[in-house]
Amino acid sequence: MAKPNLLIVGAGGVGQVTANKAVQFRDDFGTITLAARTRPKLERIAGEIQKRWGVPGDPPLIDVRAVNARDRVEITGLIRTLDIGLVLNVASPYCNTTILDACLETGAAYLDTALAESEFTEDIDAPWYAHEEWPRRPRFAERKISALLGMGFDPGVVNIFCAHARKHLFDDIESIDIIDVNAGSHGRYFATNFDADVNLREIKEDVVTWENGAWKTIPRHSEWMDVSLPQVGRHRVYSMGHDELHSLAVNFSGTDRITFWMGFGDHYLKVFDVMDNLGLTSSVPIDVDGVQVAPNRLIKALLPDPASLASGYTGKICIGVDIRGRKDGETKRHFIWSNCDHEENYREVGSQSISYSTGVPVITAARLLAAGTWNPQTMVHVEELDPDPFLALMPEVGIDWQVEELPVDGGWPYPDEA
Ligand SMILES: NC(=O)c1ccc[n+]([C@@H]2O[C@H](COP(=O)([O-])OP(=O)(O)OC[C@H]3O[C@@H](n4cnc5c(N)ncnc54)[C@H](OP(=O)(O)O)[C@@H]3O)[C@@H](O)[C@H]2O)c1
Repeated sequence: MAKPNLLIVGAGGVGQVTANKAVQFRDDFGTITLAARTRPKLERIAGEIQKRWGVPGDPPLIDVRAVNARDRVEITGLIRTLDIGLVLNVASPYCNTTILDACLETGAAYLDTALAESEFTEDIDAPWYAHEEWPRRPRFAERKISALLGMGFDPGVVNIFCAHARKHLFDDIESIDIIDVNAGSHGRYFATNFDADVNLREIKEDVVTWENGAWKTIPRHSEWMDVSLPQVGRHRVYSMGHDELHSLAVNFSGTDRITFWMGFGDHYLKVFDVMDNLGLTSSVPIDVDGVQVAPNRLIKALLPDPASLASGYTGKICIGVDIRGRKDGETKRHFIWSNCDHEENYREVGSQSISYSTGVPVITAARLLAAGTWNPQTMVHVEELDPDPFLALMPEVGIDWQVEELPVDGGWPYPDEA
């Protein structure tokens, strides 16, 4: 099988990790190209990669191209010109639909890390994937083109943890709680760890979760719990809507509860509430002296670039799934998780752990697709694939994972202090 030429679209925090990891495992791929709108960013990343992974005299390890991926003709043309076999979409999720359509047109395989979004829409109906992705699935199936949706850490690896639990740990799964804690500190007054308007929208929206086998909507930040997780200690986590609930509810039908919880500190929530009360998190454009401006785009322009947080970021993250169910007639509970360390990740590829924990799964999956180990030839969510090869390979690409049986009473056996 020929090694596919790779196109990485997006040169933000995640794009930087993805490009570094692609080059680290370049023997698995044909040519590697990094594309986004802003050429200087692309050239900076390519230059750093050459220094990190190349030896003097090497030809360029990575090619760069400026592209507007929201222009279907432009992105289709780039895929054709470079004879791309696999597109890794780690750009803003506003680009998803045009890149999906370009892959349908050219036959290139597709992978993304986030649900398609539109900058002016909030609180869409569940299931979220039914709006843009699933209507395109019959065309991917008909043309036998592989498309992997939601392949970061959450969504992504957490979905694969669920598939591992179903395959190896449980006969029946009753509940899945996905928990994401970033115990790191970037030292800025306020910042988002990825794309600001996407991140603020997910915090702002009503919370849509799966409970008693149906969608339930509750006000944001109205449900929380305190958890003590490996290496990050005790944190308050809040129920939140998140992409992966909308595929897991379908692919784990019969599971009573599927929820997502994210840790927030008091300071973060206080600043968020002030911005929200002033209307600054809104995606709806307002007239400012005759110019239409969406307030959240202004906030995005003012906040630090997520990639710029990496230098000086300290502490760790822990992302895992707390799964309950039955095995051989007994009630069981397992926690499956990974940790990443901001400083370690920065030393390795110059990025913070939120970007790192997204880019590493992308390249793990890309290696499996390139080798033909994963070859769905249709559009899938990653929990529909065999989890074993992925979980065997991810530590080699850069992130280890653990599983532990926990007390069914709901307690956490890990220390409260990080
Ligand atoms: N699943 C997960 O676990 C997970 C976790 C974190 C993030 N994510 C997702 O990963 C993606 C990237 O996150 P990030 O932190 O890297 O965001 P980011 O730092 O804001 O970078 C976004 C990148 O998208 C590029 N882009 C935006 N519009 C474009 C267009 N029209 N054409 C070409 N490129 C365009 C930007 O290009 P310029 O550089 O030219 O501006 C930028 O390089 C987002 O979709 C985010 O939701 C997923």
